[in-house]
Amino acid sequence: MRKLIKNGTVVTAADIYEADVLIEDGKIAAIGTDLKSEGVEVIDATGRYLFPGGIDPHTHLDMPFGGTVTRDDFETGTVAAAFGGTTTIIDFCLTNKGEPLGNAIQTWHEKSKDKAVIDYSFHLMIGEMNDDVLRELPQVIHEEGITSFKVFMAYKNVFQADDGTLYRTLLAAKELGALVMVHAENGDVIDYLTRQALKEGNTDPIYHALTRPPEIEGEATGRACQLTGLANSQLYVVHVSCADAVEKITEARNKGLDVWGETCPQYLVLDRSYLERPNFEGAKYVWSPPLREKWHQDALWNALKNGQLQTIGSDQCSFDFKGQKELGRGDFTKIPNGGPTIEDRMSILFSEGVKQGRITLNQFVDITSTRIAKLFGLFPQKGTIAVGTDADIVIFDANVERVISRETHHMAVDYNAFEGMKVIGEPVSVLCRGEFVVRNRQFVGKAGYGSYLKRKKYGEDMKHQQDSIPVQ
Ligand code: URP
Ligand code: ZN
Ligand code: ZN
Ligand code: ZN
Repeated sequence: MRKLIKNGTVVTAADIYEADVLIEDGKIAAIGTDLKSEGVEVIDATGRYLFPGGIDPHTHLDMPFGGTVTRDDFETGTVAAAFGGTTTIIDFCLTNKGEPLGNAIQTWHEKSKDKAVIDYSFHLMIGEMNDDVLRELPQVIHEEGITSFKVFMAYKNVFQADDGTLYRTLLAAKELGALVMVHAENGDVIDYLTRQALKEGNTDPIYHALTRPPEIEGEATGRACQLTGLANSQLYVVHVSCADAVEKITEARNKGLDVWGETCPQYLVLDRSYLERPNFEGAKYVWSPPLREKWHQDALWNALKNGQLQTIGSDQCSFDFKGQKELGRGDFTKIPNGGPTIEDRMSILFSEGVKQGRITLNQFVDITSTRIAKLFGLFPQKGTIAVGTDADIVIFDANVERVISRETHHMAVDYNAFEGMKVIGEPVSVLCRGEFVVRNRQFVGKAGYGSYLKRKKYGEDMKHQQDSIPVQ
């Protein structure tokens, strides 16, 4: 049935205006004032914002890590995402050295099939570069529509790739039309520092942060930027946590390099002191890169405001405290890295960003959706509210106050990293391709509704890359 969302305030990366939005066959069919409501289902959105559905460019659902598997899978993870206003996720498909990339992609299709309640796509991890991998890449791009490759510069002996692999991936991406994503931390130096810490009997969660200082991230970020310049390629730095990395990205961009940066809600509002919480609770706050001293938060907010960082990803990677995070009691290196963030990514950016006057409403939309769609080959099907695009729409109440808690969250994990945090603003209803997934704060979606998205090549649509970000 056709739907008419009446009297909402449409917000895009460029505009804010009151209008009715007509939805037909999952697409936005018309936007205007006083659109006819005969024979259509009318949804009143008076006093509410209409945002384009959020796109989370960084999730790890149903992912094996450190001898365990993330608690949230493609069903619980996407339900939680939808409650938070996200209608598309891009998850990281892990690969194994020596095995065909196609096998890994197949595994990820199996994990997600019949589970996702919103649309989804994959990035592909590149752990090694050789003739077999090179031969498979064109198919990955053309058949699977996977146009972004992830290289880990950390997690030695697990995911870490060497610099030669990173450089060759940058070259291949340039030639084939893909965006290279890096986890930028110096894994070799971390390896040394963590061994030293354990040797000295320093086993508590705080040593996770102390053995991965900001210089470790700044150095790797700078190295990745330099190699990107040398390869004349394109780079997206995931989960930027500190001023050191922001500086390197800014420097590269000022030189004209095609370099982009993402941060995450946890780095914007949590800090290193959380790792010192008693009774091993600090383990709940173990991320890589680690939470930083509080002053780094200002650098991240300024970078979002000034456009030196362009996106926010959740880096959703949830492990229960009981039985999973606890694996690291007595040895911080055995704490599974990551936390539950998929649900509150947008709320936190809205509340701490827009409501606190750090970013504009248009920037909020750009950072959570539009820019991500453009960088990852989904625009304009996703990432905006315009005639002809997918009807992925968040009906948002900008005034309601809510306390984040595991008691009310929709993730499967047994704690919430933002427990007790007050946020202003919440999605009331969320539509993905014209169908309600969340309606009046109730889940009405269906596992398996989400469809797999093949994405366009990087640079295929450079016109959209050039669109200026509205800077305050
Ligand atoms: O601690 C984190 N970020 N865990 C997820 C894996 C990664 O490095 O992105
Ligand atoms: Zn990472
Ligand atoms: Zn991640
Ligand atoms: Zn276009």
